[in-house]
Amino acid sequence: MGMDNDTYKLVVIVGSVREGRFGPVVASWVAEQAGIHGGFDVDGVDLAEIDIPLSLPAASPKIAGDGYPRPAGMGALTSALEGADAFIVVTPEYNHSYPASLKAAID
Ligand SMILES: Cc1cc2nc3c(=O)[nH]c(=O)nc-3n(C[C@H](O)[C@H](O)[C@H](O)COP(=O)(O)O)c2cc1C
Repeated sequence: MGMDNDTYKLVVIVGSVREGRFGPVVASWVAEQAGIHGGFDVDGVDLAEIDIPLSLPAASPKIAGDGYPRPAGMGALTSALEGADAFIVVTPEYNHSYPASLKAAID
């Protein structure tokens, strides 16, 4: 739970990082709607501001557990998600899938 026992902490993630992208406009609208709902303490994470690596450590987080060497630069995203009760991903469709930025962040 977020700030108090009646408020869930919701993180809205902007999944696109493209120059001139529209994603932040949609994410702002989503965050505003969640604010109007009143049951959420809303936070935002923009993947364009996170240093997301395409190259990953040898072991997967599932296998390495707490010993997983989290890529530097991902700290802000990790702590935002760790503190969240729920999250919404605002993503475009690129070539019939979601963008590489989002896939890399999930991985
Ligand atoms: C490289 C690229 C590929 C796209 N591929 C698709 C697609 O496969 N299907 C679709 O419906 N829209 C596609 N679109 C349109 C985007 O999903 C749409 O413009 C979206 O709002 C872009 O979000 P963004 O501005 O945050 O990047 C594509 C746009 C780009 C730039």
